[in-house]
Amino acid sequence: MNDLHGKRIVLGLTGGIACFKAAELCRSLVKAGALVQVVMTDAAMQFITPVTMQALSGEPVYTSQWDPREGNNMAHINLSREADAILIAPASADFMAKLIHGKADELLSLMCLARPIQTVPLILAPAMNREMWAHPATQRNVAQLKADGAHVLDVGQGDQACGETGDGRMLEAEEIVEELLSFWTPKCLKGHHVLITAGPTYEAIDPVRGITNLSSGKMGFAIARAAQHAGAQVSLVSGPVSLTTPRGVHRVNVRSALQMQEAVLNAVSQATVFIAAAAVADWRPESAANQKIKKDGQGVTPTLHFVENPDILATVAQSSRAQKGHLFCVGFAAESHDLLAHATAKRARKGVPLLVGNIGPSTFGQDDNALLLVDAEGAKELPRDSKTQLAHDLVEDIAKRLGTPHF
Ligand code: C5P
Repeated sequence: MNDLHGKRIVLGLTGGIACFKAAELCRSLVKAGALVQVVMTDAAMQFITPVTMQALSGEPVYTSQWDPREGNNMAHINLSREADAILIAPASADFMAKLIHGKADELLSLMCLARPIQTVPLILAPAMNREMWAHPATQRNVAQLKADGAHVLDVGQGDQACGETGDGRMLEAEEIVEELLSFWTPKCLKGHHVLITAGPTYEAIDPVRGITNLSSGKMGFAIARAAQHAGAQVSLVSGPVSLTTPRGVHRVNVRSALQMQEAVLNAVSQATVFIAAAAVADWRPESAANQKIKKDGQGVTPTLHFVENPDILATVAQSSRAQKGHLFCVGFAAESHDLLAHATAKRARKGVPLLVGNIGPSTFGQDDNALLLVDAEGAKELPRDSKTQLAHDLVEDIAKRLGTPHF
C-alpha cells in the first residue's frame, strides 16, 4: 500500500482544539488520493467551520442526522456503507465514552454504531489534555473500544494547548496518514525482525575533513518504512543523512564503517532479515589526525594511507545463522555499467541469496530508481519507479522468498 488512491474515508471531527490539525489532515488525505467525506459534531463546529472542511475535502460537510440532502434521510446508513474506513480525528474523551455505550444521538456516533463492523474499520485519533488521557475512565474506554474492534491510534507527547505538557496530543497529520497506509498494507513480514543499513559512511581524515560518498539513504529509509508497514519490527543503522526516521522504526546513527559494523553486529542476533543498502566506504584513512592538518605553505601535500574497511554484508552472510537459513541476507550493488554482470558476480562474492543492483549515478539522491533483483535462478527487473514503490515491491518479493503467508 503506497498511497490512499481511491480510498473512501469518512473523516469525523469531534470537539477539541486539535480540530485545527484536522484541516491539514483532510488536505493530506486528499493529496494521498483519498476521497474524504467530512462529518462534524456540534462541538467540533465550535473549533473549526464546515466551510473550511468543505473547501479542503471538496465535498459538502454533514453535520446532522436530519440532513435532507439524502433521499432516504439516512445519512448514517448511506455514508457508512460507502466508506472504506471511518476515521475520527480528533476523537474527544467524551466521544469515546459515548461510543463504548453505543450511544447514537447525533450523526457521527450514529454512523459509528450503524457501520458494518466487519468491513468498515473505525480508526480513532484521540486528542485531549494529559490528565483526561491518563484518567482511568479514559483508559478503560480505550481498552473497551479496542476490545470492540476499533483501531485506536497512539497519542503524541509534548506541549498542550492548555499550557500543560504530557501525553494526549493528537498525532500530526502526516503521522495519521502513515498509520492509515500501514493499516491497509498486508502484513507479509509479520513476526520478522528486519535489520537495514542505509546511507553513506564518513571516514575521518582529521577533525574537520573526511571521505564520504553521494548516497542519500533514501532507498534504505524507504525499505525500512515499507518493512514496518508490512508488519516487521525494523532496526535501521544509518550513516550521516538528513532524513526523518520512518514512524515505528528503531534507528541507530553511525558515522564510520567501523561504527556501522559494530551497530550491525550488536543488532543482528535478533534479526531474521538483513538488508545492506548502505554505501559503505571501501577504505578509511589508516589513522585520523587529532588536529586539523594544516597547509604548510610550500605546496607540499599530505599523503594519506588507507586501510580496507571490513565487509559488513559478507561478514554477516558468513555467520552461522545466515548459513543455517535463520537470517536472510540481501545486498545492494551500485554500479555505473554492466549491471547484470557485476551484480551477479557480487552476489556470489558476498555469498547472499539476493543481490539488488542499481545504477549508482542515476539513483544517488534521487526520489526514483530502477532495480535488478539477482538470485541463483537469474534476474528480475523492477522498472523505474519511486523509491517508495520499489521498496514496497522489494519487501513483498523478500516476503515471498521467506515463505511467510499474507493475510
Ligand atoms: O562491495 P560493494 O561495496 O560494491 O558491495 C555493496 C554491498 O555490500 C552493499 O549491500 C553494501 O551495503 C555492502 N557492503 C558492506 N560493507 C562494506 C562494503 C559494502 O556491508 N564494507
